[in-house]
Amino acid sequence: MNISTFKIANKLITGEGSIELLSKETHRLGMKNPLIVTDEILQRIGVVEKVQSKLIGLTSGVYTGVKPEPEIAIVEECTAMFREGNYDGIIAVGGGSAIDIGKCVSAFASFEGSIEELFGTDLVPQKGVPVIAIPTTAGTGSEVTNIAILSDKEAQLKKGIVSDFLLPDVAIVAPEMTLTMPKSVTAASGIDALVHAIEAYISVYASPITDALAIGAMKLIAVNLPKAYANPDHLKARENMATASLMAGMAFGNAGVGAVHALAYPLGGRYHIAHGVSNALLLTYVMEWNKISCLERFRDIAEALGENVAGLTDHEAADLAVEAMRRLCEAVNIPKGLRAFSVPEEDIPSMAEDASKIERLLKNNPRKFSVDEIEKIYRSAF
Ligand SMILES: NC(=O)c1ccc[n+]([C@@H]2O[C@H](COP(=O)([O-])OP(=O)(O)OC[C@H]3O[C@@H](n4cnc5c(N)ncnc54)[C@H](O)[C@@H]3O)[C@@H](O)[C@H]2O)c1
Ligand SMILES: [Fe+2]
Repeated sequence: MNISTFKIANKLITGEGSIELLSKETHRLGMKNPLIVTDEILQRIGVVEKVQSKLIGLTSGVYTGVKPEPEIAIVEECTAMFREGNYDGIIAVGGGSAIDIGKCVSAFASFEGSIEELFGTDLVPQKGVPVIAIPTTAGTGSEVTNIAILSDKEAQLKKGIVSDFLLPDVAIVAPEMTLTMPKSVTAASGIDALVHAIEAYISVYASPITDALAIGAMKLIAVNLPKAYANPDHLKARENMATASLMAGMAFGNAGVGAVHALAYPLGGRYHIAHGVSNALLLTYVMEWNKISCLERFRDIAEALGENVAGLTDHEAADLAVEAMRRLCEAVNIPKGLRAFSVPEEDIPSMAEDASKIERLLKNNPRKFSVDEIEKIYRSAF
């Protein structure tokens, strides 16, 4: 049997000005007193105000305590505010961090147990209050996925809650919301989206539907990430990146991501390296490793990234795919080498141990690893 399922947010609203439909969606979902879940930076620069100005005929509250790579305690704090304020819906405004917190609070608010009980797959018992996700970065695709990622400070690990009950009810993807992203966030989140597309395309769970989305996302990112990085006000490039992130999210939300993400988790969990950057640090090394397991797929990746593969063998074309990714990371100034982030070299064996346990992601990867082989990848990326 070769069954695949495809699930995404219930409704996608995209394009410049789509934020205008927010009020209509809150009413459709029966929200009378939603909580906006966001962070201090977005509050300070006026993004939250822009969202609030669209809310008509209802009351709302604002939680601004989200931090990048958010910890479990943030879900607990935001949930306490949600319960005390008798809120009835979530409007998550921000990057993957704010959207993940919004999704978790929706699931956790009506749950009696501890959040630890929800880590894993399909452990959320029921659908929570409605969630509208409004991304302000173009990278994670969290607005369409059934996943939320939290940092466990004590265990120094990143942990995932995976449940179809986390799928947002509405994603409003308005590219103008991303215009204020700093260059480093544009780069890191854009590379994250590219990694989602590539890992979904080579996943053992890829399907024709996820393939089409993944290749489409790669094409858009190859052309538009350098443009958005070079000229932050380039609205068309921002729009194409927002669309690419959404497409990559739909692809990986169904086909899964693989070893790049699994090996990146310890970098986020222990050293708090931003998610997109930790992926970028490992990307080309993991791709070199994966290459032989699906050369013809790497040929497609090279083509999608704009390389001319005519007349090349699959091996040669696959090399070009890795080269194109290296060039793209360089073009957007992604720092190189774990050393640059003060990762202690003596930690590599235990990082490899931790990564090897992330079976949820490694099972999707087209080539298998031993712990020693993971260790070698970290050493080559050092
Ligand atoms: N749920 C999923 O499917 C999924 C997928 C990939 C990653 N993630 C998670 O998402 C998180 C990373 O999210 P991210 O890369 O979007 O970054 P982020 O949400 O952590 O934001 C990074 C920084 O950029 C700022 N920022 C965001 N948008 C801005 C804007 N428009 N203008 C100015 N500043 C802005 C934020 O305030 C923050 O300081 C990680 O925790 C990662 O594990 C989740
Ligand atoms: Fe990611």
